[in-house]
Amino acid sequence: TAASNVQLNGRLYAADSVTNVPAAILEKAQRRLYKIPNHPIGILSHRIASHFAHFANIDAPDPVVSVAKNFDELGFEPDHPGRRVTDSYYLNKDTLLRTHTSAHEIETFRNPAVRDAWLLTADVYRRDEIDRSHYPVFHQMEGARLFDASADLRALEDRIEHDEHALRLANVRIHDESRVGEVNPFQHGHDPALGRLVVRDLKLALNGLMLDLFASDDGKPLEVRWIDSTFPFTSPSFEVEVLWNDEWLEVLGSGMIMQRTLDTAGVPDKVGWAFGLGLERIAMVLFSIPDIRLFWSTDSRFLAQFSPGKFSPFKPYSRYPECKRDTSFWHPPMFHENDFCDIVRDVAGDLAEDVQLVDQFVHPKTQRSSATYRINYRSMDKSLTNEEVNEMHAQVIERATRQLGVEVR
Ligand code: PHE
Repeated sequence: TAASNVQLNGRLYAADSVTNVPAAILEKAQRRLYKIPNHPIGILSHRIASHFAHFANIDAPDPVVSVAKNFDELGFEPDHPGRRVTDSYYLNKDTLLRTHTSAHEIETFRNPAVRDAWLLTADVYRRDEIDRSHYPVFHQMEGARLFDASADLRALEDRIEHDEHALRLANVRIHDESRVGEVNPFQHGHDPALGRLVVRDLKLALNGLMLDLFASDDGKPLEVRWIDSTFPFTSPSFEVEVLWNDEWLEVLGSGMIMQRTLDTAGVPDKVGWAFGLGLERIAMVLFSIPDIRLFWSTDSRFLAQFSPGKFSPFKPYSRYPECKRDTSFWHPPMFHENDFCDIVRDVAGDLAEDVQLVDQFVHPKTQRSSATYRINYRSMDKSLTNEEVNEMHAQVIERATRQLGVEVR
């Protein structure tokens, strides 16, 4: 399809052959849910900021960033899957909607007023499947803390030791399954003695946050698990999970900041830790929100339920009937499900609750591939009529045929 220029927040981006941001996504880039004081995302972001009382709280920059900022400067390999046009929203080949808040690490470490301890909440964008817990726009909070590489280790250890005391008295069980070593190493050039203290401080800070967010008053201890992970911009790297309703909930990624990041930011004599957490996933459990689309609801029955500073459970209002439509088509070999989902979202917006692949086969003679998708249309705010649904569904099929080269069977 012919690309047209893309306008966002008063700036114009010249489209090219990779441009793939649908209008429905551009609209979301204006909403700033994290700024709304009685919105669950705003309440949670504010609560985390209050927990880290001495950290600078930075306003989200524009979501349009360069490929260099989002990927290259953070050490993402050229063939990293996150870079694919099927996984990210490109305005053109040099610019995209940030896929994570880490895209702002370097510029923030450059700023002497905030660099040593900061938080940044922002909307982030990833092309994804459609279901109740995935939405192409969500929110992350990034946090970081720096130390002088020449810090007095003894004084640092004393401070950490002192701060760990409160955690030792709290009702929490920490399962540290991470093993810093060969697969999850300290960086060359880092003094391991300093590295161990930085990691210890990271664990202290985040265990404290988990306790603040998730501790219950039913007497059961909070269970927090640390496991090894990998990110191109941290080493060693960790993930944190919390046991919630008998399941481990993945809460955040973290690690010791790659020295390359700090060198680029002009602070080669510092070391530090960083973390990034997804706000929706945490808000869904803390506020008992069953469907991620609800965060985008403008219905007062949603927003009127929440108030600043409180993790009150959401009381669902009546669910309207679902309307399922199946569609089967032959598709070209390069077909990607995320392209189909984007069309569904662009046509149906938040009326698309779920898109499921229900059947798939390759014709034995012609070798053509076929797929059957079941789209569930449902509004959060009203009953949809059959005509409305048929019209949306016809549009989905028309656009898939025209833009993706599929052929309805
Ligand atoms: N940016 C990472 C993500 O989106 C999270 C992260 C942030 C990991 C900071 C390590 C340090 O998954």
